[in-house]
Amino acid sequence: MTGLTLTAAAILATALALPAGAQTVVATGLYLPPMNAAAGRKLFASKGCVVCHSINGVGGTDAPKLDASTMKSPMDPFDFAAKMWHGAPAMIAMQQSELGAQIQFTGDELADIIAFAHDPAEQKKFSEADIPPNIKKHMMEGK
Ligand code: HEC
Repeated sequence: MTGLTLTAAAILATALALPAGAQTVVATGLYLPPMNAAAGRKLFASKGCVVCHSINGVGGTDAPKLDASTMKSPMDPFDFAAKMWHGAPAMIAMQQSELGAQIQFTGDELADIIAFAHDPAEQKKFSEADIPPNIKKHMMEGK
């Protein structure tokens, strides 16, 4: 009994000792990055997703809304990436014509954007003020 309790305590201590935003090892040779919805809110705007997709009523109407209420919950983040892959031909063609190039991002950035797409509280904070001028310019062109 004492041994079990000690083991449980050791596991808890290890979990608590992990710094916030630490990588989570999920399988041999693989980890999941931290998924930061607040950073994702900024990236959703600065990367240009907002030109076509809206969240919290802010953004373009050329593509499906990405409000958390439209997402399966809880959701496997890879399913979000798979949906992007499924929509990729139309999305990339449109990015090339509306933004002049295909949007590029790192895995960590995509993880943050996916976190934002599933976080209703963070989405409530999303406003026009999050959209940088270079992206706003593209949104005006579409109008
Ligand atoms: C230039 C316009 C445009 C931009 C910019 C854009 N998308 Fe899209 N996206 C689309 C269109 C159009 C579709 C629908 C494609 C289809 O149904 O074939 C789509 C589909 C998707 C889907 C699948 C939605 C569903 O319900 O199946 C996801 C997820 C998505 N986009 C995420 C993103 C993210 C994240 C970004 C920014 C990194 C982004 N998109 C940038 C136009 C865009």
